[in-house]
Amino acid sequence: MVLILLGPPGVGKGTQAVRLADELGAAHVSTGDLLRAARREGTELGQRAQKYMDAGELVPDHLILDLVKEHLRGIDPGTHVLFDGFPRTTAQATGLESVLEASSRRVDRVVLFEATDETIVQRLSGRRSCPECGAVYNVYFSAPKSEGKCDRCGAALLQRSDDAPATVRKRLEVYREQTAPLIGFYESSGAAFDRIRADRPVDEVYADFLGAVGKG
Ligand code: AP5
Repeated sequence: MVLILLGPPGVGKGTQAVRLADELGAAHVSTGDLLRAARREGTELGQRAQKYMDAGELVPDHLILDLVKEHLRGIDPGTHVLFDGFPRTTAQATGLESVLEASSRRVDRVVLFEATDETIVQRLSGRRSCPECGAVYNVYFSAPKSEGKCDRCGAALLQRSDDAPATVRKRLEVYREQTAPLIGFYESSGAAFDRIRADRPVDEVYADFLGAVGKG
């Protein structure tokens, strides 16, 4: 199965993708995570992506498509793949079709997660991430046991620089202009398409998510 998790920044795509990927033994492909790793490693891609990410803008399509193609080379074609935060433009969606066609695959399902801007702004302002193991917390909804420290590995938690309020507003604007058109694109693509109200507790959203992918 090739599944796309679509939805605005901070709606909870990553939270749900990690959980489903664990349960299915699927590959979780988050372009945001791959870009942040490239930045940490100081690669050329990481350096080129930095200014776009800091401004809340999209990294150019050709860089993202090269990154995804390269990453998919390391994943067995028989493995379920969950795309999180990709594609984000129509050019990325058509590029993905070509990449998948090369291995006789296609996008099977798309799940759109929806929430109000108010919910999103609160979630992003409360998000804290572990730079060591990648665990994600929220000071309002899922706080670590010890303030500022990762429950799993004890590392000091960080707030993402693009979760600053002005950058969040820009990311929401970019989502509406450049990514929301993918809703119509995928509704008419032949892939199974579901919408999930994501402004509810994580477990409730996950139960609907499992149902949408036929595992409920
Ligand atoms: P990326 O990292 O993809 O960010 P995003 O799409 O903006 O999504 P987020 O990671 O912010 O949110 P999420 O929906 O995964 O929510 P999460 O589960 O963490 O991209 C960052 C940047 O990289 C982009 O701006 C762009 O510059 C660049 N980029 C990336 N991909 C690109 C692409 N394809 N093309 C071009 N540029 C690209 O949850 C958020 C918080 O809420 C957490 O604290 C979580 O604990 C909490 N939470 C989650 N669910 C719930 C719930 N149900 N109830 C309460 N709290 C919840």
